[in-house]
Amino acid sequence: MKNDEKDLFVKAGRLRSFGRTSSRLTTQDQEKLDNKLAPYRLNAEDAGKIKFENKLIVEIGMGNGACLANRAQNEPENQFIGCEVYKNGLNTLVNTLNQQNTQNFKICHDDARDLLENLPENSVDELIVLYPDPWPKNKQKKRRIVNEELLNLGDRILKDDGILFIATDIPDYMMWILREVYTHNTFFPTAISPEEWATAPTWWHSTKYEQKAIKQGRKPWYMTFKKNVDKSNTKCDPLV
Ligand SMILES: C[S@@+](CC[C@H](N)C(=O)[O-])C[C@H]1O[C@@H](n2cnc3c(N)ncnc32)[C@H](O)[C@@H]1O
Repeated sequence: MKNDEKDLFVKAGRLRSFGRTSSRLTTQDQEKLDNKLAPYRLNAEDAGKIKFENKLIVEIGMGNGACLANRAQNEPENQFIGCEVYKNGLNTLVNTLNQQNTQNFKICHDDARDLLENLPENSVDELIVLYPDPWPKNKQKKRRIVNEELLNLGDRILKDDGILFIATDIPDYMMWILREVYTHNTFFPTAISPEEWATAPTWWHSTKYEQKAIKQGRKPWYMTFKKNVDKSNTKCDPLV
């Protein structure tokens, strides 16, 4: 393996799906942030130990967590875990959670795939991925987080009828997602026509990345899939 390819792997066989994990943070800033994060923090390896009541909603690659934090405030009866490796955005998130006095939110600052590996089987109601890194160049596409491994992890942790929700603004990634999901054959779209994918769900709160995409003239797609449902009623298969 070439030297520059070594950094591509976070562990054997697992590609690095993210870019930077922090920027311009001094050691002091990092310490301050770690202290602020502490009350909300959930380490990936501890995810199997916690008991959840009501619904559990997990978002991976949440950036500054704007959408999930808003939802947590509107749904105090449910539990939320947001996961992100990029440290800088977590400062804004913790400020928001503190202002809202949010009690039903945990932050995992680890690789999302480690979190999903450790969550108990059949424990999650919704798994959410908003604007995953597009890795647009052909040689980078293998780093896209929506792939067979993620779908296997989602299949294990989601309850029957659990939801996999993915938003993207990149047409090529949308087709990639559909191919991955349909090939996996565990999750099926709830939409009865592709137009539904242009409409945000009721709980939606726009994210930083979405704002940037819209400003640059790109169109968001919101795709909801359900685990193990009868797919015979869907006409929403642009691949056939
Ligand atoms: C394009 S950004 C979108 C952020 C946010 N969802 C939004 O819509 O504003 C994708 C994010 O996914 C994070 N990410 C990528 N792979 C990840 C992984 N394996 N575990 C945790 N976070 C990851 C990146 O660090 C990045 O912040």
